[in-house]
Amino acid sequence: MIAIGCDHGGLNIKNAVIDYFNEKGVAYRDFGCDSPQSVDYPIYAYQVATAVANGDADCGIICCGTGIGVSMVANKVKGVRAAVVTDAFCAEMTRRHNDANVLCMGGRVIDESTAVKLADIFLNTEYEGGRHAKRVQMITDIENGNFMIKS
Ligand code: RB5
Repeated sequence: MIAIGCDHGGLNIKNAVIDYFNEKGVAYRDFGCDSPQSVDYPIYAYQVATAVANGDADCGIICCGTGIGVSMVANKVKGVRAAVVTDAFCAEMTRRHNDANVLCMGGRVIDESTAVKLADIFLNTEYEGGRHAKRVQMITDIENGNFMIKS
């Protein structure tokens, strides 16, 4: 199941991704918002990120005006690796190298069809592991307060 959410600035692209999920039969849970009325993005980003961190969702997609605010919120939640993505290369690389589990996009940065394309790439690209595993583990160590730089 994919957790998805947005604020008013990301509603257009979230709706486009949801239309795509409905078409493809992808299971998702929509955490809102549902209208273009101004709302506070941390409320929606936190709920999506928490669903991912708890294991209720396999991964998350959060949209705001830029993707930045929601990524800042999501990355405060332990276990979440959120990436702001605006192009296909980064959508692929953040899965392959960073094992990102939350995709953040901006409705004032990219159009609906780009958002659908990036979501599709993100959801269908595997993490490579290997040499990247050590680095992703370092992120986890920093998060857990036990990162040591060995000289
Ligand atoms: C809302 O106007 C805007 O600040 C928000 O959508 C987002 O871009 C924040 O990072």
